[in-house]
Amino acid sequence: MFSNPTCLIFGKDTIKRIGKEIKKRGVKNVLVLYGSGSIFKNGVYDAAVKSLKDNEVGFVQLGGIKPNPVLSKVYEGIKTAMKEKTDGILAIGGGSVIDTAKAIAAGIGYDGDVWDLFEGKAPVKTNVPIFTILTISATGSEMNNGAVITNEGENKKWSIGSPDLFPKASIIDPSVQFSLPWNQTANGAVDAITHVLELYFDKTENNMIMDEYSHAIVKTVLKSTDLLMKNPSDYDARANLALSATLALNKTNSVGRQGGDWSSHWIEHSLSAFYDVAHGAGLAIVMPAWMDYVYAECIHKWVVFAESIFGITAGTPDEKAKAGIAELRKFYKKIQQPTKLSEINVPYEDLPKIAANASMKGKIGNIKRLDQNDILNILKLAY
Ligand code: NZQ
Ligand code: ZN
Repeated sequence: MFSNPTCLIFGKDTIKRIGKEIKKRGVKNVLVLYGSGSIFKNGVYDAAVKSLKDNEVGFVQLGGIKPNPVLSKVYEGIKTAMKEKTDGILAIGGGSVIDTAKAIAAGIGYDGDVWDLFEGKAPVKTNVPIFTILTISATGSEMNNGAVITNEGENKKWSIGSPDLFPKASIIDPSVQFSLPWNQTANGAVDAITHVLELYFDKTENNMIMDEYSHAIVKTVLKSTDLLMKNPSDYDARANLALSATLALNKTNSVGRQGGDWSSHWIEHSLSAFYDVAHGAGLAIVMPAWMDYVYAECIHKWVVFAESIFGITAGTPDEKAKAGIAELRKFYKKIQQPTKLSEINVPYEDLPKIAANASMKGKIGNIKRLDQNDILNILKLAY
């Protein structure tokens, strides 16, 4: 079954359409969420507020959502929404702001502590409509039904998902991403590539259309990121990267597959939970190390990956697979991402603690089921 109800509005000068999208769904008063203030510098806030006012949509605002968003902010948002009697949420920002919006919506729909939902103690249900204006392409949260929040008291970076959490409408104007610092553009590119590969490297066979779709997304991200390194204001490159990131995790890429592997994400979320690492940077370190550890379990798929993405034609299957992984690392280095845990100052003696955190819910992964010891081995390879 494939279903994605989010209305995606994509292109230059589209932010002005947000007010109409909200109004036509009968929403009268939104909670506007944002991060640390980039939206005030690049004109996004002004354009959004003008559109709300033009369409007589009322709003209250709550800023200060940080990357790797935290549970305390979710509680604050639930309180504000209840007090101000808002009937919808508009998230303006990246995955962190959008995920906070989803968690607030989930919390409003639940008579108890919202963290229960992350612990799986109750199903996520809400009728609070979510709208987004995306300002950084990375997570796909603008067009999916997941949210990741850190319980900062317990070092748990966990997720929720529900059909009710798909945004009603999301706006992507790629030109607002001209203002991104380079490392954020690169983090987003790594996240998009990793989403594709998490889904690609599972045990599904003969799903040629989705494999070729995956190759197309990854190749587009590689090429667009290259172009943006030379010219961060290249609109077409921004637009190609943006659409790729959305398609990487809006469920299209899951069609006919078995749900993907997701080990690299589990491990990275534990890194972020302890050290506040940017999600993409953590993935640039973890996924190639995970590949080193598991590729032999499904070598023919790594051969196709190496051939199709990086044009590697020479060598034995083992040599080709290794060359593909090496090319991925090389690309991450080229775009100035870290590829080793030692580069981001994670203490070596902390590795067992990270492995324990990542296996708190049991074994992870699909290509190879990984226990705590496997995860520790991967972390050592990543060091
Ligand atoms: O806070 P502001 O001022 O907005 O600055 C942000 C933030 O510092 C900045 N930024 C965003 N747009 C900008 C801009 N700066 C200048 N110009 C712009 N146009 O970028 C920084 C990072 O923002 P953030 O929202 O944290 O980035 P991202 O979209 O990568 O989100 C990462 C979070 O999403 C989670 C990650 O784990 C992480 O917590 N994920 C969510 C997923 C989902 N919901 O489906 C899946 C992912 O795998 C991921 O786990
Ligand atoms: Zn991700």
